[in-house]
Amino acid sequence: MKRACLLLILPLFAHAEDEVPDYKTMNVSEVFTNLCSGCHGKDMTGGQGPSLIDGNWKHGDTDNAIFQTILKGNLDLGMTPWEGILTDKQIRSLVILIREKEKAALATGITFPEPEVGKQIETDHATYEIEMVVDEGLKIPWSISFLPDGRKLVTEKEGRLRFIGTDGKLDPKAVEGTPEVIVHGQGGLMEVAVHPDYEQNGWIYLAYADGWWNKKKEKDKKAKPSVMTRIVRGRIKDHQWVDQEDIWKADKKFYSSGGTHFGTRITFDMGHVFFIIGERGGNMEAQDIKNPKGKIYRLLDDGSEPKDNPFAGQPGVPKGLWSYGHRNPQGMAFDPRDGTLYSTEHGPRGGDELNIIGPGLNYGWPVITYGMNYNGKPLSDLTEKEGMEQPVIHWTPSIAACGFTFYTGDKFPGWKNDSFVGALKQQELRRVRIEDKKVTEQEVILKNIGRIRDVRSGPDGFLYVILNDPDKIIRLVPVK
Ligand code: HEC
Repeated sequence: MKRACLLLILPLFAHAEDEVPDYKTMNVSEVFTNLCSGCHGKDMTGGQGPSLIDGNWKHGDTDNAIFQTILKGNLDLGMTPWEGILTDKQIRSLVILIREKEKAALATGITFPEPEVGKQIETDHATYEIEMVVDEGLKIPWSISFLPDGRKLVTEKEGRLRFIGTDGKLDPKAVEGTPEVIVHGQGGLMEVAVHPDYEQNGWIYLAYADGWWNKKKEKDKKAKPSVMTRIVRGRIKDHQWVDQEDIWKADKKFYSSGGTHFGTRITFDMGHVFFIIGERGGNMEAQDIKNPKGKIYRLLDDGSEPKDNPFAGQPGVPKGLWSYGHRNPQGMAFDPRDGTLYSTEHGPRGGDELNIIGPGLNYGWPVITYGMNYNGKPLSDLTEKEGMEQPVIHWTPSIAACGFTFYTGDKFPGWKNDSFVGALKQQELRRVRIEDKKVTEQEVILKNIGRIRDVRSGPDGFLYVILNDPDKIIRLVPVK
C-alpha cells in the first residue's frame, strides 16, 4: 500500500524545478484535481484513498480533524502529508470544498415535499399548509412589516413602499414621496420597520441605498453611482411619505460604487433602534471602528447616540456603533425569552453565521471566517482568534441566510420561540431551535419554492415568507 502510493505521487514531484506547477496560486478545485483526485477520485467518491463524501470520517468528522489529516497525512496508510506544499489557507479551502461536495452527495435521494398552495406539509413539530398572500404585482419584494390595524407594509427593491390592505389585497398604488433610491447591484429600497409604539407616534423606518450618479445615468450606460446604506424614519399620511427625519447616514467619503453588501435589517428594543450596515465589499474596513462599513448600530429611536453605547463619544467613530467585524448580515431579531440579540450573516463561499450580538464585540470578518473566496482561492486559514467572537453556528456550505425571526405567535404551539432562517441560495426555510443560547435543533421546513428574502412572525400568528424569483408573499398556516 505504502509503496504504491509513493509511486503514484512521485511523478508530481519529479518535474524539473521550473515545471512544477505553482500550487500556491491555484484555486481549490485545481488543487484537488492536481494533488488529490488521483487517490480520492475526481468526484471524491474514492479510489486508492477513501470516499470523502459518504459521511464516514475515520479520523473524526469535525472540520479541524479533516484539516489535520490533510496537513499531517498518514504515510503508513498511504495519505500524503501536505504540510509545506499547501498553505494552511489552502487546506482550509479544501475542507470547505469537501464539505460542499459531501453535503450535495448526502442530499441526493432526500426529497422535500414539493411545496404548493393548500398542500399539507408535515414537519417535526407542526403540520402546515401554504396560503398565498400576494401572488402577483410585486417586483423583488424585500421586507414586510405589520401595522396594528391589520395592514402590512412591503418594500420593493426598486424603490416602492406598498400596503397590503386589511382585505389582504396588494394596494396597486405605492406610497408617494419616499426617498429616492439608488438601485444598484444588491442595493435599493430594503428594510421597512414599524415602530413598536406606532399607534402613539406613527413612525416607520426605512433602510435604503442612498447616493448619486456621477454622470447622467440616462445618457451614459457606464455611469457609476456612489452609494451607501442610509436609515430614515417618516410617517404615512394618505399614501404620502411625510415628516421624514434622518436616523443615520455615513460621511460622503464612505459612499462607493460597489454593488454588494448593503446589509440590512432594523429592529427595536426598549427605546432603541438597531440596524446593520454591510461591509460594502470593503473586507478589512469591517475591522476599522472609524469606518462605518461592516457594523451593527444602536441608537435612540430618534437617531441620537445613547450614552451607554460602547464607543459613545470616541472621536472619529461613527454614531451608534455597537459591534463590528461583520460582512453582510441580513437577519436580526431579539429572542423574546431573554432579550438576546441574534443576527444571521452571509459568509463568502462557506461560513454563513448565526451570531449573538453584544456591545463592543468584534465578529472577526475577514480575519477569521469559515468560508473561502467564491473562486476557490483561500481567504483565511483562521476560523478563530482571541478577541474575536465565534458564531453560535456556521453554515458551510453557505445557505445564503437572509431574514430571521423568532416565532412569537400562538397558532403553532410546537414552534413557540423557535427561530426561523430564510435562505436565498438554498431556497429553504429553516427552523432553528435555540436553547440556552445554543442551537439544539435544525430542520428544513420548506424548500424549492423560491429564494427566501424575509421571514416574519406575524401578529396574527402565521409565519410570513417573502419570496424572490418568483416574487410572491406566502404564509404558513396550521392544519388542524
Ligand atoms: C497517494 C494517495 C493519496 C493522495 C494523493 C491523497 N490522499 Fe487523502 N488519503 C489517502 C488514503 C489512503 C487515506 C486513508 C488514510 C487512513 O486510513 O488513515 C486518505 C485519507 C484522507 C482523509 C481522511 C479521511 C477520513 O475518513 O478521515 C482526507 C480528508 C484526505 N485524505 C484528503 C486528501 C486531500 C485533500 C488530498 C489532496 C490535497 C489528498 N487526500 C491526497 C490517499 C491519498
